[in-house]
Amino acid sequence: MEVIIQPDAERAARLTARLIADRLRAKPDAVLGLATGRTMERVYAALAQMHREEGLDFSRCRTFNLDEYIGLPPEDPHSYRYYMNEHLFRRVNLRPENTHLPDGMAADLKAACRDYEGRIRACGGIDLQLLGIGASGHIGFNEPLSALRSRTRDKSLTPETVAQNAPLFGADAARMPRRALTMGVGTILEARSLILLATGAAKAEILAKAVEGPITAMISASAIQWHPDCRVIVDEAAAARLQGREYYRWIYENEPDWAPYRNASLES
Ligand code: GLP
Repeated sequence: MEVIIQPDAERAARLTARLIADRLRAKPDAVLGLATGRTMERVYAALAQMHREEGLDFSRCRTFNLDEYIGLPPEDPHSYRYYMNEHLFRRVNLRPENTHLPDGMAADLKAACRDYEGRIRACGGIDLQLLGIGASGHIGFNEPLSALRSRTRDKSLTPETVAQNAPLFGADAARMPRRALTMGVGTILEARSLILLATGAAKAEILAKAVEGPITAMISASAIQWHPDCRVIVDEAAAARLQGREYYRWIYENEPDWAPYRNASLES
């Protein structure tokens, strides 16, 4: 794992977007695993800008999102399908049939989860999975005690997650679903590489536990420590509780692989 600390949330998001774009340029038919949440809005804005200004091509790219609420149709403004359409899909040249989210409206949710895993396999697996981290320490909606080998399935959301995400529903907060379909921790760990992006002081404590604490099913994000190709990108505020932050800065400043990004990531 590498932890990369950027001065602020905008630059952390831009570096994340740059890493995704570089993967897509190297492999135009890459399979991207995508995430939702406020943190990712800047990443998708940066990718859309690269599409407009640099011709970043998504025409052969396939995408799989981590999760979707149960019971929200795609046209519901609070569904993750709607979020993805708004923030990324309609802003770039992704083919709609190449974009996948779990079907939270399926009559048979277990069959929908099996089907989702099958679609990921049929595409050859996920090349690069983008992750955020929830207040409960979740990746996707893998709430505390999610098995570290879990697969795509339905999960009940913790009160903490409901409290974190309900403001996004605005006046509809009471309508926020209490359950969701999510890729499992095991599904996520099978991606060929991972990027976890966390920004803001509210994430500092849970991020430090996930990155530097013991691997535990109580904090599903800690499972990223198993992964052989994982980058954690944070802003200063989210890095505040990391014990090793001076070492992480040293890595970023000295590791040759990061040289092309050190200056580019500072562009606005
Ligand atoms: C939701 C998603 C997670 C995401 C989290 C963080 O709970 N299921 O995948 O990591 O939100 O959200 P935010 O970026 O708004 O803090």
